[in-house]
Amino acid sequence: MKFFVDSADTEEIRELADTGLVDGVTTNPSLVAKTGRDFLLVIREICRLVDGPVSAEVAATDFDAMVSEGRKLADLAKNVAVKVPLTMPGLKACRTLTQAGIKVNVTLCFSAAQALLAAKAGATFVSPFVGRMDDVGADGMALIADIVKIYDNYASLKTEVLVASVRHPMHVVEAARLGADIATVPPNILRGLAKHPLTDKGLAAFLADWEKTGQSILGR
Ligand code: E4P
Repeated sequence: MKFFVDSADTEEIRELADTGLVDGVTTNPSLVAKTGRDFLLVIREICRLVDGPVSAEVAATDFDAMVSEGRKLADLAKNVAVKVPLTMPGLKACRTLTQAGIKVNVTLCFSAAQALLAAKAGATFVSPFVGRMDDVGADGMALIADIVKIYDNYASLKTEVLVASVRHPMHVVEAARLGADIATVPPNILRGLAKHPLTDKGLAAFLADWEKTGQSILGR
């Protein structure tokens, strides 16, 4: 399973990319707005920090403008994946950009029917938003199970399932259990995946016992 970082904060991304655990990055207009920085500059910088796909979202909603914006974003770096919304013009733009050899992430997916259309449109990635579904009392992970199953039924559908709107580590674990291709994870949750109180407790005990030996591995 691949891990993407869901952030536009270049310092956070740099730090996490240095761990070698990061396969790509997703941004959206809200994450970019939070940085207060120039969008195109931020995307260029992120693309230099990671080798994998970096999703950059169009701001237009009509077909022609989405395609123009998508082409401009794709020109920023070879690892840009253009994000388009899951609307009819968005699907049409997905088809056009995909045919031009550009990676496309179809975002704001909330149903299996929408995911089926994204795959038909040739999307590289489809982004179902599990957290936002849970927020309204729906079952985000049930949607992931549905999409994975549907895509598995047809070898011709090559779209990768990118689990988005991840709110806690169990979303990631469940996504992996269901065979989703990718989880895009906010930095704090990515760090949270490594945490366990028994790890901290065990390490403290080992260090205390090691101290008693008076030895140093590098000391002689
Ligand atoms: C990533 O591609 C999505 O835009 C993001 O995961 C949405 O997350 P949110 O629902 O926490 O805003």
